[in-house]
Amino acid sequence: MDAARRLPWDWYQGVIPENVVMDETAYVETSFSFFLYRSEEPVGARIGRGASTYLGTMFDVGPRGRVSLGDYALVHGARIICDAEVEIGDYALISWNVVLMDTYRAPADPAERRRELELVPARRPRRFDTDEPARPVRIGQNVWIGFDACVLPGVTIGEGAIVGARSVVFEDVAPYTAVAGNPARVIRKLNNER
Ligand SMILES: CC(C)(COP(=O)(O)OP(=O)(O)OC[C@H]1O[C@@H](n2cnc3c(N)ncnc32)[C@H](O)[C@@H]1OP(=O)(O)O)[C@@H](O)C(=O)NCCC(=O)NCCS
Repeated sequence: MDAARRLPWDWYQGVIPENVVMDETAYVETSFSFFLYRSEEPVGARIGRGASTYLGTMFDVGPRGRVSLGDYALVHGARIICDAEVEIGDYALISWNVVLMDTYRAPADPAERRRELELVPARRPRRFDTDEPARPVRIGQNVWIGFDACVLPGVTIGEGAIVGARSVVFEDVAPYTAVAGNPARVIRKLNNER
């Protein structure tokens, strides 16, 4: 990243926001990943040593949101929807099209949803923007999440766990456990010998 917070290799004419702390050995493929980033926290995102984010990764972070990406973590193209906190541990491997969300961003009540949708046309920027509660999501160290999986608000995934492709994770996953399916269920225990 240069002094103007541009990425020399970027195809998109954007910058890395001021409150994103990026280790000098971290790699962000494109600043387009911050197109939806609105965090006003002192540090809205932290990207650790040797960590990487590739094309398709979107930091969809609200004004009070904070995302942290651990050392050597690698995100292939996830949507990180964060209004409170999303923590991704060191050496986590997050595959294509994974969704990590700490908030649903939509009211469950049909009448309320309808009212919110009616507000959209007058908004600038024009967006669906609700004030739904958020519950932190924590992805432990060395976790592997397969493609198209979704992790719902409040979930903690323990160190070394595996989440199968296209799973929907609605409850905590114990360390060194593989889960898969919708809803995600334990398929086996993993060896945690170092
Ligand atoms: C989770 C995963 C690693 C498990 O692989 P595995 O240990 O070889 O598991 P198996 O194929 O032996 O399957 C074990 C059981 O889990 C089920 N299962 C495995 N993966 C599943 C998935 N993604 N969704 C639903 N069920 C799944 C199998 O049907 C099987 O069920 P059964 O015991 O009732 O027959 C693998 O299935 C997977 O999803 N890999 C994702 C790969 C990926 O995303 N790569 C991206 C590169 S970063």
